[in-house]
Amino acid sequence: MSSNTQIIERLSNSGLFIQDSAFINGEWVKSGKTFEVYDPSTAQALGKAANCTMDDMQAAIKSAHTAQEEYFTSTTAAARGALLQKWHDLVLENIDTLSTLLSLENGKTLPEATTEITYAASFIAWFAAEAPRAYGDTIPSSTPNTLIMTLKQPVGVCGIITPWNFPAAMITRKVAPALAAGCSVVIKPPSETPFTALALAKLAVLAGIPANVIQVVPTKDRGVASEVAVNPLVSKISFTGSTGVGKALAKLAAGTLKKVSLELGGNAPFIVFEDADLDLAVEGCMASKFRCSGQTCVCTNRVYVARSVVGEFTARLVGKVKGLTCGAGLEGGVTQGPLINGAAVDKVREHIADAVGKGAVVECGGEVPGDLGEGFFIQPTVISGATADMAVAREETFGPLAPVFAFDSEEEVVRLANATEFGLAGYFYSRDVARVMRVAQKLQVGMCGVNTGKISAAEAPFGGIKESGYGLEGSKYGIAEYQTIKTVTIGNIHV
Ligand code: SIN
Repeated sequence: MSSNTQIIERLSNSGLFIQDSAFINGEWVKSGKTFEVYDPSTAQALGKAANCTMDDMQAAIKSAHTAQEEYFTSTTAAARGALLQKWHDLVLENIDTLSTLLSLENGKTLPEATTEITYAASFIAWFAAEAPRAYGDTIPSSTPNTLIMTLKQPVGVCGIITPWNFPAAMITRKVAPALAAGCSVVIKPPSETPFTALALAKLAVLAGIPANVIQVVPTKDRGVASEVAVNPLVSKISFTGSTGVGKALAKLAAGTLKKVSLELGGNAPFIVFEDADLDLAVEGCMASKFRCSGQTCVCTNRVYVARSVVGEFTARLVGKVKGLTCGAGLEGGVTQGPLINGAAVDKVREHIADAVGKGAVVECGGEVPGDLGEGFFIQPTVISGATADMAVAREETFGPLAPVFAFDSEEEVVRLANATEFGLAGYFYSRDVARVMRVAQKLQVGMCGVNTGKISAAEAPFGGIKESGYGLEGSKYGIAEYQTIKTVTIGNIHV
């Protein structure tokens, strides 16, 4: 068992560390089988989660289907907003417990985990307020004595498949708009971090959200997880994760033409023009590269710096990166938690080795720290002399590696930045207003940070283009992913 015995005991006493159970049809049920969940800081087992079977998943979908219409017709939009607001309040009341649980199962530092819970809660508050604003239209008809109007209606049962890098925020960014719209949900949480999802569901039910409207079905079985994309009772799926899995789910969902939202991989460029404020640029690079130890879809993957300032920028970046401290997420003073598993560490090492083999220089980091035990650590790393033929230029590292490329012109860097099949986030730094407008329009991304490395917020539309997926989350657009628009044409009214 994990060495954090006392913390785990405290979590168990809170009633929010729910092991060995799924939440199906309003009840905590055991599946008969379990799988181990690991603390990435120690590589030791943290607890056991229910390993749900196809029967469990189908029961969950059936329950959600039975619940959905009753939920929508028995609640006003304002009532759904009030339920969500209560859920939001309970999440914040339990922020210490939730952050500790999240940090233990994901590895991110406690301050980062606390920030994530606040971020997760902000989506619930946002969609609590959006619920009553599901306006339709009235449309002047071209036919006499006819009135046309539109109704926003819930899409139905939603299959929600979430990633381990944001165990709380990716649940609430999908579930809150679904519930606000009047949908029921079947959540397949990540097998690396199922416990935060279960805790959030418990708080949702305590807030008064009808118990059978939310189902949480942990499983390690891909076939069971895929059932949400295949089952005809599910009307929509929302997935955050890899582009490969997203494409596979979209193909499965096509069988019943489900509505699909996909938030997939990225390969974010971070561009520093010669007129940039270098201090701001270094600060933004730190925020966008090393958040969650480099494991977010919007993390900077490639750092392009104008040749005239590349030496200065790299020196300042290296100075900051050397100030980071690796360690267990719950330890005080730690700024970089572990990666999620050994394969994630291997990928960073492979990218470093490939780059060095092709001429890059490791400016700092680059090693597995020798003093942190069995956890999945890798030092935050900066390499200089990166070039387009290296794996880091093409593939998402998803780890704490900042490769610095030098460039000579705006035209060249925009071309390099766009030379990827991904199009999620991009960042650039410049004080030239015309360039800001030009480059913001030319970058092929769904989200662009200009003179900032922080782009995520409940009110800002979140989503990608190209092979980074489709659909928008958060913002005034997010609820539409869970609604249909019905046109009602009333004829022969003869006023
Ligand atoms: C993600 O990595 O999928 C989400 C990142 C964010 O919301 O900022």
